[in-house]
Amino acid sequence: MGKVNKKLNVKVKGLEGVIAGQTNISYIDGIKGKLFYRGYSIEDIAQNCSFEETSYLLIYGKLPNKTELKNFAEKLKRKRSLPQHTIKMLHTFTKNMNSMEALRTVVSSLSSNDKDPRVSSYNEKLDIGLSIIAKMPTIVAYHYRIKNSLDPIPPNSKLSHAENFLYMLTGKIPESEGAEVLDKDFVLHAEHGFNASSFSVRVTVSTLSDVHSAYTTGIGTLKGPLHGGAATEVLLMLKSIKKPENVTSYVDKILLSHGRVMGYGHRIYKTYDPRAKILKKMAEKLSIKNNNTTFFEIGQKLEVIMSDKKKIYPNVDFYSAIVYHNLNLTHELYSPIFAIARSSGWLAHILEQYTNNRLIRPLEEYTGSMNLKFIPISKRK
Ligand code: CMC
Repeated sequence: MGKVNKKLNVKVKGLEGVIAGQTNISYIDGIKGKLFYRGYSIEDIAQNCSFEETSYLLIYGKLPNKTELKNFAEKLKRKRSLPQHTIKMLHTFTKNMNSMEALRTVVSSLSSNDKDPRVSSYNEKLDIGLSIIAKMPTIVAYHYRIKNSLDPIPPNSKLSHAENFLYMLTGKIPESEGAEVLDKDFVLHAEHGFNASSFSVRVTVSTLSDVHSAYTTGIGTLKGPLHGGAATEVLLMLKSIKKPENVTSYVDKILLSHGRVMGYGHRIYKTYDPRAKILKKMAEKLSIKNNNTTFFEIGQKLEVIMSDKKKIYPNVDFYSAIVYHNLNLTHELYSPIFAIARSSGWLAHILEQYTNNRLIRPLEEYTGSMNLKFIPISKRK
C-alpha cells in the first residue's frame, strides 16, 4: 500500500493516500513493487494465465476449472459481433475521430436494450459487462479499418481474444508469438485497484446508473495522457528523442520546464512497477528479434537518468509502447488496447460496487467568494 493519510477530514490534492473504499479485486504494495489479482501475484498470473482466464479470475473471484474457462471463452466469442446499427454508426464517424473517442461513443450507443439497473439482476449486469468486454476489440478493429478505408473483418470464433483482435486488425491469422505477447500485455493491464478509470467507473455505478454508462465513463477517464493515453505519448517521445545519445539533453529540458517524461512515475509505486519489469523483458526480446533496438536502448538510458535525478521508474505504459511498436501496431491503438484489457477489471469493480453500494460523494473545500451583493442584470456593466 502507498502512503496513507490517517487523519479525518483531510484535504488532499488528487486524493493521494486517501482510502476511498474496500475491494477484494487487487492489492498493490507500492513500496515493495508488488501486485496481486484476487490474491495471486502478477508474476504467476502473467506466466500462467491467458486474458480469458485472468478475466474469469477478476470477475468471478476464483480461478476457473477447465470447463468453466471453456464456457467463459465460448460466451465471449458468441458476443463479439456488433449489431448492424453500430456498424453503420462507425461508417459515419469523421476521419478526425480518434480511436478512444470512437470506442467511448460506440460503447455508449450499445445500451438501448438495457433494463433499468435498479431492477436488473446481478447476472443481467454481468451479462451486459461480458458483452461489452467481448465487443470492445471488434469496435476498435472495425473503427481502425474503416478509418483507413479498409473493409471491416468480422470476428473469427476459432481464435482467442488476443488472436482475434490482431486478426480483425490485419485480416491475417497472427503468428503465435505476436498473439501471446499481446495476450500477456492484456493480462498485465487488466486490473489495478482504484486507478482513475476504475474509480470513475465505481462513482458512476454508485449513483445506480447502468453498466454501459460505467464503461463510457471508464473509457473517457482512461483516455487522458496521465492514464491510459500515456503509451501513445511514450512512442511519440521515443520518436522525438531519436537516439540514446539525445536522452540526457531531452530529460534536462523536460525537468527544467517541469514537464513529464511519459511512461515514468506512478501515484502508488515508489519503486519499479512490477508490470513494467515483465513488459521490459518482452520489449527487449522483441526488439532483438526485430533487429530494432533503438527505442529499447533509449529506454535503458532513460531509466538510469530518471532514477538518478528523480528516483522515478518506468510504469506499465513505458515498455508496453515499445512492445506494441514491435508488434507493428500504430500508436493510435495503444490506448484502446489498454481499454480492451482493463474492461475485465472494470466489470469486476462494477459488480463489486453494485453489490455493496453507497453513493460516492466526497466533500469539497470551497475557496470562492461569499456574501456578494447581488446586482440585477440591467445594472451590470
Ligand atoms: N516525469 C518527470 N517528473 C515526474 C514524473 C514524470 N513522468 N512523474 C512524477 N514526476 C515528479 C513530479 O515533477 C514531482 O516532482 P517534485 O516533487 O520535484 O515536484 C514528483 O515526481 C511527484 O509528482 P506528482 O505529480 O505529485 O505525482 P502524481 O502521483 O500526482 O502523478 C503520474 C502520477 C502518473 C500522473 C505522473 O507520474 C506522470 O505524470 N507520469 C507521466 C504520465 C504517465 O506515464 N502516466 C501513466 C501512469 S501509469 C499507468 C496508468 O495508470 O495509466
